[in-house]
Parts: sequence; structure tokens; C-alpha cells
Amino acid sequence: MKLKLELILVLALLPLLSLAGGRELYSENCEKCHGFSQQGSLGLPLYRSTIANHSDRYLQRTIKSGRPGRVMQGFNFSDNQITELIRFLRAGIKAPKYDVAAIKGNVKNGQGIYKKYCQSCHGYDLKGGQGIGKNFSWQKDRLVSPPSLINRGFLYSAEDQMIKHIIANGIKNTEMVPFVTAFNFTDQMLNDVVSFIRSHEKPPSYKNIIRRIREPVSFIYDSPYKLKETVKKIRNSVASYNFRVYANRTLLEGLRKENFSVDDKKQVVIRFCNFNNMQNFLKIEPRLGVMLPCRVTVVEDEQGKVRVVLANYKYAVARFNNEQISEAAIILIKEMQEMVEEALW
Ligand code: HEC
Ligand code: HEC
Repeated sequence: MKLKLELILVLALLPLLSLAGGRELYSENCEKCHGFSQQGSLGLPLYRSTIANHSDRYLQRTIKSGRPGRVMQGFNFSDNQITELIRFLRAGIKAPKYDVAAIKGNVKNGQGIYKKYCQSCHGYDLKGGQGIGKNFSWQKDRLVSPPSLINRGFLYSAEDQMIKHIIANGIKNTEMVPFVTAFNFTDQMLNDVVSFIRSHEKPPSYKNIIRRIREPVSFIYDSPYKLKETVKKIRNSVASYNFRVYANRTLLEGLRKENFSVDDKKQVVIRFCNFNNMQNFLKIEPRLGVMLPCRVTVVEDEQGKVRVVLANYKYAVARFNNEQISEAAIILIKEMQEMVEEALW
């Protein structure tokens, strides 16, 4: 009898326990991007009204595969963990189910509808608005950056019927309005625009960008000049490339303090910044500003040979996993290379 009572107690508490597990998984893995109360940050808001549109299949797949090229990585969770996480996100709201069969609409008509009604937010290439997730910056015209509709992770996860449902009914309290009531979309129009989105099934992926890099982790240039001369030349070149130079930083590693004099400098870091580039990055993602590279290191070795080292920033931003950012970095690093090459000419 006593045993039975305990069993009932455990069974009664089980849902609560697994909710706690889901909360924990969320705090540890998702909160930094989706926010403490799912209000969104680098990631989209995951309010209950948003999640209410999502099937379990969509959420499972989204968590497993992430959004390659749009910051969110895939998570290697067990089925059990994913179930707990989803239960936490749903907070009691019933999961919708969608037929997984493809919708067959007219792609060409869909393209026209997309251009007219969707492009201004989701972009001419369907890759979403500038930046990602929720914006806190006054520079942005939208509070939530419209997501990419052709992201590999999204297209893999979303059922055509779910996409249709979201377009038809919108997402509550967001700019994504219900197109059936707001713009009199017919069933045919919905099908056409879904088919147009689906026709982009194989977008270029972040892996392709990494593959495209095929370059060293840093670029090393031999300088024909002495250390001081090299530093001077780079500073001049920096200025002519419209970068602003900050104070040099000297690393005194391996040098005894009492012996230190200006001539003992063996490694000089030149820090600089170009406001055009900076603006470029900030427009994509304000939170990136702090991680801009803008530094060149000049090193002199034991034999007095001087080299200039430029970190290949493409790798750092590839890890950030955002196509727009990777493209901006490619432009920036190219400018920096030209700048160093000109200095050492
Ligand atoms: C590094 C940041 C980051 C982390 C960590 C992250 N996400 Fe995301 N997530 C995003 C971004 C960014 C998007 C939107 C992609 C876009 O704009 O195209 C997104 C989209 C989603 C979506 C789709 C939302 C929608 O409206 O369709 C879900 C669901 C989601 N994330 C769940 C999770 C869960 C659960 C976790 C933790 C296991 C997690 N995310 C961790 C950044 C993140
Ligand atoms: C005024 C801007 C705006 C317009 C116009 C707009 N959307 Fe959206 N859309 C958004 C925003 C913002 C979100 C994300 C809202 C959120 O999750 O908080 C969104 C979300 C979506 C989603 C869900 C994607 C995901 O990852 O969960 C789909 C699908 C979608 N939109 C399709 C469309 C289509 C198709 C059209 C044109 C018929 C359209 N949208 C027009 C702003 C817009």
C-alpha cells in the first residue's frame, strides 16, 4: 500500500521534473541567444505564440540541425533531451500536426507574390533581413530580423503545410501578419508562394564558405626593412587606406624589465580601424563590433629577420556561422592584405 502511494507521487511529479530538465537544457544551451524568457536576442523570440505554430517534428529537426549560415548550430541531444526541451518550450500548448506531403503550386506565380508581399522583409534572395534575431540597436528598422526562408536547416525542418499555415495566419504580435485576412490571400496564392520558397531547397551553405577559404590561418609576409622601419611603413599604409591607427602595443615577453629600452621591442602590434568597414559590420550585427580584427603584428626574430603577421579573419568569422558576416570579412581581409603588401613594397 505504501509503495503504491509512493509510485503515485513519483508519477504525479514526473512531468514537473522533466520540465525542470527542459528548463535546464534551455538555460545551458539556448538562453544566450533566445533570451531568459524566450524573448529573443541573437536568436528569434520563441514565445509560446510562435511555438504554437510549430510541429514537434519541426522543433526536433531545428534543434538537431540548427540554422547553418544563420548562427544557430545543431545540437547533438538524445531524443529524450529533445522531448524535454520541447515540453519546456511548449509550456502546455498543444502541438499542431502537419501533413508532410509537398504542396504543388505555381512557382512562377509564387515568385511574383513573393516580390510584391514578402521581399521587402525577407530579402530579394530570401535569405532574411540584415542581422539576426532580435535587434536592440536604433540603427535597425525592424525589431526582429525576418528569418531566412531558404536556410538549409529551415527547409529541412519545416513542412510545406506549416509554412503555409504561418503565411496564412501570421505570427501573433510580430510583423509577420496573417496574409489571408490582411491581404486577402487565396488558397492558390498561399500554395504558389510556398512552392516558390521550396524551389530553393539547396541554398549555398556555410560549409561551402569554409571550403572556399582554403587559405592559411594567418598570412605571413617577410619584410625587407628593419623592425622600426616596417612599423612606420605599415602605419603610413594604414593611413592611406583610410584606416585610423591606435597606439602601437609592444609585447615585452622574454625581455627583462631593467634592460628595456625602445630598441628592445621585438614584437609590435599595430591596431587600427576603418570606419567604413566597421559600419559595414555593425549594420549586419552590432554585437560583432567588439570582435573586429584590425590588427597587424610585426615580429623580429633572433636573427633580426622581420615579418608581418596578419590573422586570417575569415576563419574567426566562419566560426560565427553567418553568411553575410563571412562575406563582409572577405572584403575586409582583402583590404588588409593589400594594405600590408603596399607597405612592404
Ligand atoms: C548562437 C545562437 C543560438 C543558439 C545557441 C540557439 N539558437 Fe535557435 N536560433 C538562432 C537564430 C539566429 C535563429 C533564426 C535563424 C534565422 O534568422 O534565419 C534561431 C532559430 C530557432 C528556431 C526557429 C524559430 C522559428 O520561429 O522558426 C528554434 C525553434 C530554435 N532556434 C530553438 C533553439 C533551441 C531549442 C536552442 C537550444 C538547444 C537554440 N535554438 C539555440 C540562434 C541560436
Ligand atoms: C513586414 C515584414 C514582413 C513581411 C512583409 C513578411 N514577413 Fe514573414 N516574417 C517576418 C518576421 C519579423 C518573422 C519572424 C517573426 C518572429 O518569429 O518573431 C517572419 C516569419 C516568417 C516565417 C516563419 C519562418 C521561421 O523561421 O519560423 C515565414 C514562413 C514567413 N515569415 C514567410 C513570409 C512570406 C511568404 C511573406 C510574404 C507573403 C512574408 N513572410 C512577409 C516579417 C515579415
